[in-house]
Amino acid sequence: MIAAVLKEITPDENRVAATPQTVKDLIKSGLTIRVESGAGDASYISDGDYKNVGAEIFPDPSSILKDADIILKVAPATKEEIDKFPDNAAYISLCQTTRELELVKLLNNKKITGFSMHLIPRTTLAQSMDALSSQANIAGYKSVLIGASHLPVYMPLLMTAAGTIPPAKVLILGAGVAGLQAIATAKRLGAQVEAFDVRPEVKEQVESLGAKFVEVESDNDDGVGEGGYAKETSEDYKNRQQQKIKEHIAKSNLVITTALIPGRPAPLLIPRDMVEGMKPGSAIVDLASENGGNCELTKPGEIILHNGVKIDGTLNLPATMQIHASQLYAKNVSTFLTYMVKDGNLDLNLDDEIISGSMFTHNGQVTHEPTSKALGD
Ligand code: NAI
Repeated sequence: MIAAVLKEITPDENRVAATPQTVKDLIKSGLTIRVESGAGDASYISDGDYKNVGAEIFPDPSSILKDADIILKVAPATKEEIDKFPDNAAYISLCQTTRELELVKLLNNKKITGFSMHLIPRTTLAQSMDALSSQANIAGYKSVLIGASHLPVYMPLLMTAAGTIPPAKVLILGAGVAGLQAIATAKRLGAQVEAFDVRPEVKEQVESLGAKFVEVESDNDDGVGEGGYAKETSEDYKNRQQQKIKEHIAKSNLVITTALIPGRPAPLLIPRDMVEGMKPGSAIVDLASENGGNCELTKPGEIILHNGVKIDGTLNLPATMQIHASQLYAKNVSTFLTYMVKDGNLDLNLDDEIISGSMFTHNGQVTHEPTSKALGD
Protein backbone atom coordinates (compact mmCIF):
# COMPACT_ATOMS: atom_id res chain seq x y z
CA MET A 1 0.00 0.00 0.00
CA ILE A 2 1.09 3.55 -0.71
CA ALA A 3 1.14 6.18 2.05
CA ALA A 4 1.47 9.82 0.99
CA VAL A 5 2.90 12.53 3.25
CA LEU A 6 1.53 15.91 2.16
CA LYS A 7 3.15 19.31 2.48
CA GLU A 8 1.03 21.36 4.90
CA ILE A 9 -0.69 24.36 3.33
CA THR A 10 -2.31 25.92 6.42
CA PRO A 11 -0.47 29.19 7.19
CA ASP A 12 2.15 28.82 9.98
CA GLU A 13 1.72 25.04 10.10
CA ASN A 14 5.40 24.16 10.23
CA ARG A 15 4.98 20.55 11.25
CA VAL A 16 5.11 17.49 9.01
CA ALA A 17 3.43 14.10 9.49
CA ALA A 18 6.55 11.96 8.91
CA THR A 19 10.26 12.26 9.65
CA PRO A 20 13.09 10.20 8.13
CA GLN A 21 12.99 7.95 11.21
CA THR A 22 9.26 7.25 10.88
CA VAL A 23 9.57 6.78 7.11
CA LYS A 24 12.08 4.00 7.89
CA ASP A 25 9.63 2.41 10.34
CA LEU A 26 6.73 2.64 7.90
CA ILE A 27 8.76 1.11 5.06
CA LYS A 28 9.79 -1.70 7.41
CA SER A 29 6.09 -2.40 8.03
CA GLY A 30 5.66 -3.03 4.29
CA LEU A 31 4.33 0.35 3.09
CA THR A 32 5.59 2.37 0.15
CA ILE A 33 6.17 5.95 1.30
CA ARG A 34 5.74 9.00 -0.91
CA VAL A 35 6.64 12.48 0.32
CA GLU A 36 5.54 15.69 -1.37
CA SER A 37 8.55 17.83 -2.25
CA GLY A 38 9.15 20.46 0.44
CA ALA A 39 6.91 18.72 3.01
CA GLY A 40 9.70 18.76 5.59
CA ASP A 41 11.21 22.17 4.73
CA ALA A 42 9.57 24.08 7.58
CA SER A 43 10.76 21.39 10.02
CA TYR A 44 14.28 21.56 8.56
CA ILE A 45 14.01 18.15 6.87
CA SER A 46 15.05 18.15 3.19
CA ASP A 47 13.70 16.04 0.31
CA GLY A 48 17.16 14.42 0.30
CA ASP A 49 16.81 13.36 3.94
CA TYR A 50 13.59 11.52 3.08
CA LYS A 51 15.05 10.07 -0.14
CA ASN A 52 18.05 8.69 1.76
CA VAL A 53 15.77 6.49 3.85
CA GLY A 54 13.82 5.16 0.87
CA ALA A 55 10.92 7.59 0.36
CA GLU A 56 9.86 8.59 -3.16
CA ILE A 57 9.58 12.35 -3.68
CA PHE A 58 6.66 13.75 -5.72
CA PRO A 59 6.51 17.32 -7.00
CA ASP A 60 2.88 18.26 -6.20
CA PRO A 61 -0.34 17.13 -4.48
CA SER A 62 -1.93 15.79 -7.69
CA SER A 63 0.94 13.46 -8.53
CA ILE A 64 1.54 12.22 -4.97
CA LEU A 65 -2.15 11.55 -4.34
CA LYS A 66 -2.71 9.53 -7.53
CA ASP A 67 -3.32 5.91 -6.36
CA ALA A 68 -2.41 6.77 -2.76
CA ASP A 69 -4.05 4.42 -0.23
CA ILE A 70 -3.25 6.31 2.95
CA ILE A 71 -2.89 10.10 3.33
CA LEU A 72 -0.88 11.50 6.23
CA LYS A 73 -1.23 15.08 7.40
CA VAL A 74 -0.90 17.29 10.45
CA ALA A 75 -3.59 20.00 10.10
CA PRO A 76 -7.12 19.11 8.96
CA ALA A 77 -7.29 18.91 5.15
CA THR A 78 -8.89 21.77 3.24
CA LYS A 79 -11.57 21.34 0.55
CA GLU A 80 -8.93 22.05 -2.08
CA GLU A 81 -6.83 19.15 -0.75
CA ILE A 82 -9.73 16.72 -0.30
CA ASP A 83 -10.84 17.34 -3.91
CA LYS A 84 -7.60 15.63 -4.95
CA PHE A 85 -7.89 12.67 -2.55
CA PRO A 86 -8.66 9.34 -4.24
CA ASP A 87 -12.00 7.75 -3.27
CA ASN A 88 -11.86 5.01 -0.60
CA ALA A 89 -8.43 6.04 0.71
CA ALA A 90 -7.59 6.23 4.42
CA TYR A 91 -6.78 9.60 5.98
CA ILE A 92 -4.98 10.49 9.24
CA SER A 93 -4.53 13.99 10.71
CA LEU A 94 -5.21 16.06 13.80
CA CYS A 95 -8.86 17.10 13.62
CA GLN A 96 -11.61 18.17 16.01
CA THR A 97 -14.27 16.24 14.14
CA THR A 98 -17.22 17.68 16.07
CA ARG A 99 -16.16 21.14 14.83
CA GLU A 100 -14.62 20.39 11.40
CA LEU A 101 -17.95 19.23 10.03
CA GLU A 102 -17.34 20.36 6.46
CA LEU A 103 -14.20 18.20 6.33
CA VAL A 104 -16.09 15.21 7.73
CA LYS A 105 -18.79 15.57 5.05
CA LEU A 106 -16.29 15.95 2.21
CA LEU A 107 -14.29 12.90 3.30
CA ASN A 108 -17.44 10.87 3.78
CA ASN A 109 -18.71 11.75 0.31
CA LYS A 110 -15.54 10.16 -1.06
CA LYS A 111 -15.98 7.09 1.18
CA ILE A 112 -12.68 7.89 2.82
CA THR A 113 -11.84 6.14 6.08
CA GLY A 114 -10.98 9.08 8.33
CA PHE A 115 -8.93 8.83 11.52
CA SER A 116 -8.32 11.75 13.86
CA MET A 117 -5.29 11.75 16.13
CA HIS A 118 -7.52 13.73 18.54
CA LEU A 119 -9.67 10.64 19.02
CA ILE A 120 -6.94 8.15 19.95
CA PRO A 121 -8.16 6.69 23.27
CA ARG A 122 -6.15 7.86 26.33
CA THR A 123 -5.24 4.28 27.31
CA THR A 124 -1.92 2.83 28.39
CA LEU A 125 -1.62 0.77 25.19
CA ALA A 126 -2.16 3.86 23.02
CA GLN A 127 0.19 6.15 24.94
CA SER A 128 2.83 6.24 22.20
CA MET A 129 0.10 7.26 19.70
CA ASP A 130 -1.25 10.06 21.92
CA ALA A 131 -0.67 13.17 19.82
CA LEU A 132 -2.89 15.32 22.05
CA SER A 133 -0.42 14.73 24.88
CA SER A 134 2.76 15.08 22.82
CA GLN A 135 1.60 18.39 21.36
CA ALA A 136 -0.03 19.76 24.55
CA ASN A 137 3.24 19.20 26.38
CA ILE A 138 4.97 21.49 23.89
CA ALA A 139 2.20 24.10 24.11
CA GLY A 140 2.47 24.14 27.91
CA TYR A 141 6.23 24.64 27.82
CA LYS A 142 6.14 27.33 25.14
CA SER A 143 3.27 29.22 26.80
CA VAL A 144 5.45 29.93 29.82
CA LEU A 145 8.41 31.10 27.72
CA ILE A 146 6.10 33.43 25.78
CA GLY A 147 4.39 34.60 28.96
CA ALA A 148 7.73 35.28 30.66
CA SER A 149 8.85 37.36 27.70
CA HIS A 150 5.64 39.45 27.92
CA LEU A 151 6.39 40.35 31.55
CA PRO A 152 8.22 43.51 32.54
CA VAL A 153 9.55 41.65 35.62
CA TYR A 154 11.97 38.82 36.42
CA MET A 155 10.57 35.33 37.03
CA PRO A 156 12.99 34.21 39.81
CA LEU A 157 13.77 35.58 43.22
CA LEU A 158 16.98 37.61 42.97
CA MET A 159 19.04 39.09 45.75
CA THR A 160 21.18 41.77 44.21
CA ALA A 161 23.32 44.59 45.56
CA ALA A 162 20.63 46.97 44.32
CA GLY A 163 17.86 45.23 46.19
CA THR A 164 15.78 42.06 46.40
CA ILE A 165 13.52 41.07 43.54
CA PRO A 166 10.58 38.89 44.61
CA PRO A 167 9.66 35.90 42.39
CA ALA A 168 6.90 36.42 39.81
CA LYS A 169 3.54 34.87 40.67
CA VAL A 170 2.24 32.50 38.01
CA LEU A 171 -1.26 31.01 38.04
CA ILE A 172 -2.07 28.02 35.82
CA LEU A 173 -5.76 27.31 35.17
CA GLY A 174 -6.28 23.71 34.04
CA ALA A 175 -3.69 21.16 35.14
CA GLY A 176 -3.92 18.56 32.36
CA VAL A 177 -0.97 17.72 30.13
CA ALA A 178 -0.31 21.32 29.01
CA GLY A 179 -0.95 22.79 32.47
CA LEU A 180 1.38 20.37 34.25
CA GLN A 181 4.17 21.11 31.77
CA ALA A 182 3.51 24.84 32.22
CA ILE A 183 3.83 24.41 36.00
CA ALA A 184 7.12 22.54 35.63
CA THR A 185 8.51 25.14 33.22
CA ALA A 186 7.46 28.12 35.36
CA LYS A 187 9.00 26.44 38.43
CA ARG A 188 12.27 25.93 36.53
CA LEU A 189 12.30 29.65 35.74
CA GLY A 190 11.98 30.33 39.47
CA ALA A 191 8.42 31.63 39.66
CA GLN A 192 6.02 31.08 42.55
CA VAL A 193 3.39 28.86 40.95
CA GLU A 194 -0.26 28.14 41.80
CA ALA A 195 -2.64 25.97 39.82
CA PHE A 196 -6.32 25.19 39.69
CA ASP A 197 -8.31 22.40 38.04
CA VAL A 198 -11.88 21.15 38.42
CA ARG A 199 -10.58 17.59 38.78
CA PRO A 200 -9.51 17.28 42.45
CA GLU A 201 -7.28 14.26 41.72
CA VAL A 202 -4.70 16.49 40.02
CA LYS A 203 -3.91 18.18 43.38
CA GLU A 204 -1.23 15.60 44.11
CA GLN A 205 0.36 16.02 40.64
CA VAL A 206 0.37 19.81 41.01
CA GLU A 207 1.98 19.59 44.44
CA SER A 208 4.56 17.05 43.32
CA LEU A 209 5.80 19.68 40.85
CA GLY A 210 6.24 22.14 43.69
CA ALA A 211 3.18 24.30 42.96
CA LYS A 212 0.30 25.20 45.28
CA PHE A 213 -3.13 23.80 44.42
CA VAL A 214 -5.96 26.32 44.64
CA GLU A 215 -8.92 24.43 46.07
CA VAL A 216 -12.61 25.08 45.47
CA GLU A 217 -14.75 23.12 47.90
CA SER A 218 -17.33 20.84 46.31
CA ASP A 219 -19.76 18.42 47.95
CA ASN A 220 -20.34 16.32 44.81
CA ASP A 221 -18.49 15.10 41.74
CA ASP A 222 -18.50 18.50 40.01
CA GLY A 223 -16.13 18.68 37.07
CA VAL A 224 -15.16 15.00 37.05
CA GLY A 225 -16.14 13.47 33.71
CA GLU A 226 -15.51 10.18 31.92
CA GLY A 227 -12.10 8.82 31.01
CA GLY A 228 -10.19 11.18 33.32
CA TYR A 229 -11.50 14.26 31.46
CA ALA A 230 -13.36 17.24 32.85
CA LYS A 231 -17.08 17.85 32.42
CA GLU A 232 -19.12 21.01 32.79
CA THR A 233 -19.69 22.16 36.36
CA SER A 234 -22.84 23.31 38.24
CA GLU A 235 -23.74 27.02 38.54
CA ASP A 236 -23.02 26.99 42.28
CA TYR A 237 -19.56 25.50 41.72
CA LYS A 238 -18.91 27.99 38.90
CA ASN A 239 -19.69 30.91 41.24
CA ARG A 240 -17.41 29.62 43.99
CA GLN A 241 -14.69 28.91 41.45
CA GLN A 242 -14.96 32.41 39.99
CA GLN A 243 -14.65 34.01 43.42
CA LYS A 244 -11.56 31.94 44.22
CA ILE A 245 -9.90 32.57 40.87
CA LYS A 246 -10.65 36.29 41.13
CA GLU A 247 -8.71 36.53 44.40
CA HIS A 248 -5.70 34.66 43.03
CA ILE A 249 -5.67 36.31 39.62
CA ALA A 250 -5.47 39.80 41.11
CA LYS A 251 -2.13 38.85 42.70
CA SER A 252 -0.66 37.08 39.63
CA ASN A 253 1.88 38.45 37.18
CA LEU A 254 1.23 35.74 34.63
CA VAL A 255 -1.84 33.56 34.09
CA ILE A 256 -1.70 30.56 31.73
CA THR A 257 -5.09 29.07 30.88
CA THR A 258 -5.39 25.57 29.46
CA ALA A 259 -8.90 24.48 30.48
CA LEU A 260 -10.73 22.42 27.89
CA ILE A 261 -13.71 20.08 27.79
CA PRO A 262 -13.57 17.62 24.87
CA GLY A 263 -16.08 18.48 22.14
CA ARG A 264 -17.35 21.61 23.93
CA PRO A 265 -16.40 25.30 23.75
CA ALA A 266 -13.67 26.19 26.27
CA PRO A 267 -15.12 27.13 29.70
CA LEU A 268 -15.06 30.87 30.45
CA LEU A 269 -12.85 31.28 33.51
CA ILE A 270 -11.69 34.90 33.25
CA PRO A 271 -14.45 37.41 32.49
CA ARG A 272 -13.65 41.04 31.66
CA ASP A 273 -13.97 42.28 35.29
CA MET A 274 -11.28 39.83 36.41
CA VAL A 275 -8.90 41.11 33.75
CA GLU A 276 -9.67 44.62 34.95
CA GLY A 277 -8.75 43.53 38.49
CA MET A 278 -5.27 42.45 37.34
CA LYS A 279 -2.18 44.60 37.80
CA PRO A 280 -1.04 46.60 34.74
CA GLY A 281 2.07 44.86 33.38
CA SER A 282 0.67 41.37 33.96
CA ALA A 283 -0.17 38.92 31.17
CA ILE A 284 -2.49 36.08 30.21
CA VAL A 285 -1.53 33.36 27.74
CA ASP A 286 -4.71 31.59 26.67
CA LEU A 287 -3.95 28.11 25.34
CA ALA A 288 -7.68 27.46 24.92
CA SER A 289 -7.98 30.23 22.32
CA GLU A 290 -8.52 27.72 19.50
CA ASN A 291 -11.75 26.64 21.24
CA GLY A 292 -12.91 30.18 21.99
CA GLY A 293 -10.57 30.91 24.91
CA ASN A 294 -10.82 30.74 28.72
CA CYS A 295 -10.65 34.55 28.91
CA GLU A 296 -13.57 36.65 27.69
CA LEU A 297 -11.23 39.16 26.02
CA THR A 298 -9.01 36.64 24.19
CA LYS A 299 -8.85 37.23 20.45
CA PRO A 300 -7.78 33.93 18.81
CA GLY A 301 -4.55 34.44 16.86
CA GLU A 302 -3.89 37.91 18.33
CA ILE A 303 -2.04 39.57 21.20
CA ILE A 304 -4.01 42.45 22.68
CA LEU A 305 -3.50 44.94 25.49
CA HIS A 306 -6.39 45.71 27.87
CA ASN A 307 -5.79 48.24 30.67
CA GLY A 308 -2.10 47.35 30.66
CA VAL A 309 -2.73 43.57 30.70
CA LYS A 310 -1.39 41.64 27.71
CA ILE A 311 -3.71 38.86 26.53
CA ASP A 312 -2.04 36.41 24.17
CA GLY A 313 -4.33 34.23 22.05
CA THR A 314 -1.64 32.91 19.71
CA LEU A 315 -2.80 29.70 18.03
CA ASN A 316 -0.93 26.47 17.39
CA LEU A 317 2.08 26.89 19.67
CA PRO A 318 3.35 23.36 18.90
CA ALA A 319 4.03 24.51 15.30
CA THR A 320 6.48 27.09 16.67
CA MET A 321 8.67 24.24 18.02
CA GLN A 322 8.37 22.27 14.83
CA ILE A 323 11.48 20.08 15.06
CA HIS A 324 10.33 18.37 18.24
CA ALA A 325 6.63 18.76 17.47
CA SER A 326 7.12 16.97 14.11
CA GLN A 327 9.38 14.34 15.64
CA LEU A 328 6.79 13.45 18.30
CA TYR A 329 3.69 13.80 16.11
CA ALA A 330 5.26 11.71 13.33
CA LYS A 331 6.13 9.03 15.89
CA ASN A 332 2.52 9.06 17.18
CA VAL A 333 1.24 8.67 13.61
CA SER A 334 3.69 5.93 12.60
CA THR A 335 2.99 3.93 15.77
CA PHE A 336 -0.74 4.20 15.07
CA LEU A 337 -0.36 3.31 11.40
CA THR A 338 1.99 0.36 11.92
CA TYR A 339 -0.45 -0.86 14.58
CA MET A 340 -3.08 -1.13 11.80
CA VAL A 341 -0.82 -2.52 9.05
CA LYS A 342 -0.41 -6.29 8.65
CA ASP A 343 1.88 -7.56 5.86
CA GLY A 344 1.87 -4.18 4.13
CA ASN A 345 -1.94 -3.88 4.10
CA LEU A 346 -4.37 -1.96 6.30
CA ASP A 347 -6.14 -4.41 8.57
CA LEU A 348 -9.07 -2.50 10.05
CA ASN A 349 -10.16 -4.60 12.99
CA LEU A 350 -13.25 -2.69 14.09
CA ASP A 351 -13.35 -4.58 17.40
CA ASP A 352 -10.09 -2.91 18.35
CA GLU A 353 -10.84 0.12 20.53
CA ILE A 354 -7.86 2.13 19.29
CA ILE A 355 -8.83 1.65 15.64
CA SER A 356 -12.60 2.08 16.01
CA GLY A 357 -12.19 4.81 18.65
CA SER A 358 -10.08 7.05 16.43
CA MET A 359 -12.10 6.42 13.25
CA PHE A 360 -14.78 8.96 12.33
CA THR A 361 -15.79 7.97 8.78
CA HIS A 362 -15.81 4.56 7.06
CA ASN A 363 -17.59 3.16 3.99
CA GLY A 364 -19.68 6.32 3.58
CA GLN A 365 -20.83 6.33 7.25
CA VAL A 366 -19.92 8.76 10.04
CA THR A 367 -18.80 6.23 12.65
CA HIS A 368 -18.00 8.59 15.55
CA GLU A 369 -21.21 9.20 17.49
CA PRO A 370 -20.57 12.73 18.81
CA THR A 371 -19.54 13.81 15.27
CA SER A 372 -22.64 12.24 13.79
CA LYS A 373 -24.73 14.07 16.43
CA ALA A 374 -22.99 17.36 15.65
CA LEU A 375 -23.92 16.83 11.99
CA GLY A 376 -27.54 16.42 13.08
CA ASP A 377 -27.73 12.84 11.70
P1 NAI B 1 -7.78 18.81 28.28
O1 NAI B 1 -6.84 19.44 27.33
O2 NAI B 1 -9.09 18.28 27.79
O3 NAI B 1 -8.09 19.85 29.48
C1 NAI B 1 -7.05 20.52 30.16
C2 NAI B 1 -7.37 20.61 31.64
O4 NAI B 1 -8.41 21.57 31.87
C3 NAI B 1 -7.87 19.31 32.26
O5 NAI B 1 -7.02 18.95 33.32
C4 NAI B 1 -9.28 19.66 32.74
O6 NAI B 1 -9.64 18.99 33.93
C5 NAI B 1 -9.17 21.15 32.97
N1 NAI B 1 -10.46 21.88 33.03
C6 NAI B 1 -11.59 21.68 32.31
N2 NAI B 1 -12.55 22.56 32.67
C7 NAI B 1 -12.01 23.33 33.66
C8 NAI B 1 -12.51 24.43 34.45
N3 NAI B 1 -13.74 24.87 34.31
N4 NAI B 1 -11.68 24.98 35.36
C9 NAI B 1 -10.42 24.51 35.52
N5 NAI B 1 -9.90 23.49 34.81
C10 NAI B 1 -10.67 22.91 33.90
O7 NAI B 1 -7.07 17.64 29.06
P2 NAI B 1 -5.70 16.87 28.73
O8 NAI B 1 -4.58 17.68 29.21
O9 NAI B 1 -5.68 16.44 27.33
O10 NAI B 1 -5.84 15.57 29.64
C11 NAI B 1 -6.70 15.48 30.73
C12 NAI B 1 -6.49 14.19 31.47
O11 NAI B 1 -6.64 13.06 30.62
C13 NAI B 1 -5.10 14.01 32.03
O12 NAI B 1 -4.75 14.77 33.08
C14 NAI B 1 -5.20 12.52 32.36
O13 NAI B 1 -5.95 12.28 33.50
C15 NAI B 1 -5.90 12.02 31.14
N6 NAI B 1 -4.88 11.49 30.22
C16 NAI B 1 -4.63 10.14 30.23
C17 NAI B 1 -3.65 9.62 29.42
C18 NAI B 1 -3.39 8.15 29.42
O14 NAI B 1 -3.87 7.46 30.27
N7 NAI B 1 -2.67 7.66 28.45
C19 NAI B 1 -2.83 10.46 28.56
C20 NAI B 1 -3.16 11.86 28.63
C21 NAI B 1 -4.15 12.32 29.42
